[in-house]
Amino acid sequence: MYNFQLIQSLLRNYEAAVVDRRISPNDSMNDQWYFEVGRSAVEVIAVALMASKIQAVNKVLDVPCGHGRVLRHLIHLFSGAEFHACDLDTDGVDFCASTFGAIPIYSQEELTDVDFGSQYDLIWAGSLFTHTTQDVTRRWTAYLARFLSPQGIIVATSHGRWCQHVHKVAPYIGEDRWQEILKDYSSLGYGYRDYLKKESHQFISGSYGISIAKPHVTIRNLEDIPGIRIYLYLERGLADHQDVVAFGRPSYDEPWPNMHK
Ligand SMILES: C[S@@+](CC[C@H](N)C(=O)[O-])C[C@H]1O[C@@H](n2cnc3c(N)ncnc32)[C@H](O)[C@@H]1O
Repeated sequence: MYNFQLIQSLLRNYEAAVVDRRISPNDSMNDQWYFEVGRSAVEVIAVALMASKIQAVNKVLDVPCGHGRVLRHLIHLFSGAEFHACDLDTDGVDFCASTFGAIPIYSQEELTDVDFGSQYDLIWAGSLFTHTTQDVTRRWTAYLARFLSPQGIIVATSHGRWCQHVHKVAPYIGEDRWQEILKDYSSLGYGYRDYLKKESHQFISGSYGISIAKPHVTIRNLEDIPGIRIYLYLERGLADHQDVVAFGRPSYDEPWPNMHK
């Protein structure tokens, strides 16, 4: 049974609201697609919720929240929910707390060092795994899954097949490292190289750069996470650019009612 009525009422609330258009002067994501990306996130999250088993969304984690490019939309989609905003960028977290009323969580370079101490119905991980090595992606997705409520889901984005073409018109990273990324992507299905210090205000060797992953590798990386099922994979699902995957509870091997009678 799909939760048609829940999605209908969430989208109705969102459409009736006015999204805050104040952008922090420190927001590095500020470009011409800023509001379109937030709205697109609402659309893919609605699709993911529709595919999931969730009955109500009362607690939401936005990680990494940045300066609330997506959070400003989510607070209207889930009006009445409690929002936690987590990022390594403390200025972004503070902005999300003061402007959108989120509970602030300062992250750590190693995300698994953060104890969220909550169970979330939705974890939105937009443009996080687009910047991480395969090992980090696997470790962090498994870690985040530990903070899901019994029907909670994670909706996460990645750079997928389309991004090979995007790089040609809007380069993600220097050409030398992009070619190295593509070599690993072709042979292993996942490529990653660090940003240089001058390319990112968040320079962290080995865990913050540019990644690209084939869909089957993104899915494969989820298969080892205990207690979840994979709900959907959308190529170019976020703003016609990043791929979107949704997974969460209950587990893929949850028995049918009366199965063992
Ligand atoms: C491309 S931005 C996306 C921000 C936001 N999701 C958005 O769409 O506007 C990537 C974010 O990841 C954050 N980040 C990097 N490493 C992190 C970590 N270990 N924990 C939390 N956030 C991290 C950066 O500070 C940056 O804000």
